[in-house]
Amino acid sequence: MSEAFYSHARLYDLMFPGGGPAVDFYRADADLHGGTVLELGCGTGQKLIPIAADGRSCFGLDSSSDMLAEAQRKADERGVEVEWTQGDMRSFDLGRTFDFVFITANSLLHLHEAEDLVSCFRSVRRHLAPGAPFVFDVFNPSVRVLAGADGVRRTRESLAFMDPDRGNVSVDVAEIYDAPAQVTRGTWFLSTDSEPDFVVAPLEIRSIFPQELPLLITLAGLRLVERFGDWRRQPFAVDSPLQLCVCR
Ligand SMILES: C[S@@+](CC[C@H](N)C(=O)[O-])C[C@H]1O[C@@H](n2cnc3c(N)ncnc32)[C@H](O)[C@@H]1O
Repeated sequence: MSEAFYSHARLYDLMFPGGGPAVDFYRADADLHGGTVLELGCGTGQKLIPIAADGRSCFGLDSSSDMLAEAQRKADERGVEVEWTQGDMRSFDLGRTFDFVFITANSLLHLHEAEDLVSCFRSVRRHLAPGAPFVFDVFNPSVRVLAGADGVRRTRESLAFMDPDRGNVSVDVAEIYDAPAQVTRGTWFLSTDSEPDFVVAPLEIRSIFPQELPLLITLAGLRLVERFGDWRRQPFAVDSPLQLCVCR
């Protein structure tokens, strides 16, 4: 349901410019574990391109050809080599193992069914070299925030951006929370003064609650060895923004 959203790869990078503590975190981890790196749901390579620029051998998998085309363009521009492949993280076989596998920026939450999450974790397990870690981050769902998703269209001031081709772009979002499915179903509207709603795209994101998360991991034969609550590696707590998980 979110493919249309990711067909606007250039706009994605303008809206979510990347950089910051998430890139620093994954670069440091890739450095620590060395060897080869695999990112699933790699998008336009916001994390993988800096890691490859550090000299790591990098592999990125994503289901969106548009995101991958933009990733390739950016890697070429930077003179960095990354192997990009189109695929579905729910089930994949790259025919090799990696020393570090990660999924970041809530990419995992595009898998809505518990079976799909477990199937993804099983595929990850098959791609881990002996002793290699699998790290992922998803947001820590707040019942208060989820309950506030009332379907009303609101402007997200913090996401407004300047598109060199179009000018100032505003971003509105209308969301409802489907509690039985644990999925927030949103519609994103991008507008300029002269072109209202030039993008209208659905974006649907699951919540993984703290108690179910280790169970899903265990069902795939992996073990949750550490759960941080933020990019500074603070322990996971009730008000942590993130569930930043290290599995083996
Ligand atoms: C929020 S973006 C994150 C991109 C990148 N990881 C980053 O940090 O900027 C989510 C990405 O997951 C990809 N994606 C969604 N479902 C997927 C699936 N089943 N298999 C592989 N990629 C998927 C989307 O195409 C999109 O590029």
